[in-house]
Amino acid sequence: MKKSTKSSRTIITAALPYANGPIHIGHLLEYIQADVYARFLKLTGHDALYICASDMHGTPIEVNAQKAKIKPEVFVEQYWKEHQEDFQSFLIQFDNYYKTHSPENKELAELFYKTLQEKGHIYRKKIHVMYCDYCQRSLPDRYVKGTCPHCQAPDQYGDICEKCGSVLKSVDLLKPYCSICKNTPRLKESEHYFFRLSAFSKQLQKWVASKEANLQPEVRNWLQGWFEKGLEDWCISRDAPYFGFEIPNSKKETGEIKYFYVWLDAPIGYISSTKNYCDKKQLDWKEYWYKGKIIHFIGKDIAYFHLLFWPALLMDMGIVLPKVNIHGFITVNGEKMSKSRGTFLTAKDFLKSYSAEALRFYYASHLDRSVVDVDLHFDELKAVVNNVLLGNLGNFCYRTLIFTEKNYGKITAIAEETDLQIHVGELLEDIRQNYEDREFKSAVKNILKIADLANAYFQKAEPWKTKESAETKEALGFCVNLARNLAIVVSPILPVFSQRVYAALGEKKPLLWKDISFTWKGKVAKVAVLVDKIEEKKEETQKNEKKETKKNGNTALFPLHLAVGLVEEVNDHPNADSLYILKVNFGPLSVKQVVTSLKKILPKTAFAKKKLVFCVNLKPSKFRGEVSEAMILGVDHDDTTTLLEMAGAIPGETVVPQGMAANAAQISVDEFAKVEMVVKNKRIVFGQKPLGTAQEKISVNLKDGIGVH
Ligand code: 2FM
Ligand code: ZN
Repeated sequence: MKKSTKSSRTIITAALPYANGPIHIGHLLEYIQADVYARFLKLTGHDALYICASDMHGTPIEVNAQKAKIKPEVFVEQYWKEHQEDFQSFLIQFDNYYKTHSPENKELAELFYKTLQEKGHIYRKKIHVMYCDYCQRSLPDRYVKGTCPHCQAPDQYGDICEKCGSVLKSVDLLKPYCSICKNTPRLKESEHYFFRLSAFSKQLQKWVASKEANLQPEVRNWLQGWFEKGLEDWCISRDAPYFGFEIPNSKKETGEIKYFYVWLDAPIGYISSTKNYCDKKQLDWKEYWYKGKIIHFIGKDIAYFHLLFWPALLMDMGIVLPKVNIHGFITVNGEKMSKSRGTFLTAKDFLKSYSAEALRFYYASHLDRSVVDVDLHFDELKAVVNNVLLGNLGNFCYRTLIFTEKNYGKITAIAEETDLQIHVGELLEDIRQNYEDREFKSAVKNILKIADLANAYFQKAEPWKTKESAETKEALGFCVNLARNLAIVVSPILPVFSQRVYAALGEKKPLLWKDISFTWKGKVAKVAVLVDKIEEKKEETQKNEKKETKKNGNTALFPLHLAVGLVEEVNDHPNADSLYILKVNFGPLSVKQVVTSLKKILPKTAFAKKKLVFCVNLKPSKFRGEVSEAMILGVDHDDTTTLLEMAGAIPGETVVPQGMAANAAQISVDEFAKVEMVVKNKRIVFGQKPLGTAQEKISVNLKDGIGVH
């Protein structure tokens, strides 16, 4: 048996999806989150395994297989295959994707059970269950429906009333009926196995409060509430018919065959999948589970299982307790995912219109350690992909590599840019820490900061003007190194993007964090397209194509970078009566502070909660000690100022004269002043071109000829 020699063995898991339906965009939030983390650990040289499996047991699977008239074993196998295809298509790279209906899992479930028994933590008790004589089965809570005893709402499930939110037990329902056959069930006595969770209350409370558990603050609060209510022992058995593992000796002990409840053997599936992997690789799974670090990524709905039942089982087994990283749900366009609204998108549906990396980048740029829900807003997805991923990061790497390949073919010298290199080096360190802390949103922000600096450097070098000079060639050498480093640090999120950069640099194997350097020289081949732009729907694209004469690569450059910002706060400057300090949101990736002197003219309400246009490529400057990172645009007239409001835009969206591209480089106030934008036909124009986002032009009800400042 080989020994895993590295000191930092880590198992990363994502919740095992039920082999009972397709993978959808809600699931993907978690698999992507855990994948980014696992890829980061591997990138930084850890012995990390990303482990998952399909969760194959339980009543719903058994019932659905029966409806489909196939054996549950065959039913789950189909989903097992389909899940793997879906994960692969989203670049989710498990080291092992196994199944809970497996010999390894049976063996381990029995070992757990035996150990719990030996420790005196299992007992039997007779309880009342709902039983349908017609279907000849005990009915779990979700299979009994009836009228809520609290609000009289009909057709509620036996676990919760969706009308009044009361937590229910199926025996409490009025006029109960079996959800499968609609007949009335009856109460039946049945003997079941219980795990003495109540005995673990103290130990669990200690763990929860410990530094090692490192729980998210809101999660600690939930636990507090659960402990206050008191922990109830947990029924770990189910009656036949059931798809699961038989409990050893149950027939002898209770007179009937009983099965392990799906939630007993599901988390054990984390271990059995590891074992299956280790057996194939001649490694010892215990090296990971007894001596390594375990990190579970889960959604908030299954926190109870992972923070109470599972650690208690592990305590009995003497296995290291895990770290648990909990995320919120996703909403789509601000609402719950729903089939009727067409927002219940499977993994396959999503890929019909967008790329996997679009979703990976979007989710990464929204994820941090808090348990908030993430809204997948399709307008925002488009803005983030087209303006941020493509417009900033992709743009820099692509133009650097294309320019080098076309004009030089290789890098032989690199400009010495000590200050910039130090600045970038600090950001790289921050990014590493951000990943480590699972603050992916901050990692993305910092990656984009480097891309901003890189774009500005490229722009300043104006290589298209002085191709031949040694200085320009060296500047491009520095740019190629920046692109290479960016590809390395973004690779946990965008593995294909990075792979394409590596391919252009002739790298045969994916690079590691330790390969970051500013000394790379060598041949540069033609780079493939790095980011797929999200296009309008077909008809709209055609419309736009007619209007736009110039194509992507050689679009005329507008000297400014204007963007829509949502003003989140307006505060008085502490040291200046005439200044406001605004906190402005430019999309999920950036909140900027803006100081404005318009306090003399406009009340706070003119700004607050509005989406206004700002110039975001001015050099930051200080006003009485407060830094201003952008400038608000307005039109002065009749002793007042009209701000440029774009209510329909998305924070962060770029505003440009039609058909032009925004300037990534920083400019001075003097340079800004030279850019003439005026009112014409109720639009703001530059030259003859109206300013706006891809969707909407700025509109002002003012006379022609007034200028924008
Ligand atoms: O909630 C679910 O989808 C479960 N199948 C998750 C199981 S996670 C683990 F415990 F196995
Ligand atoms: Zn029935």
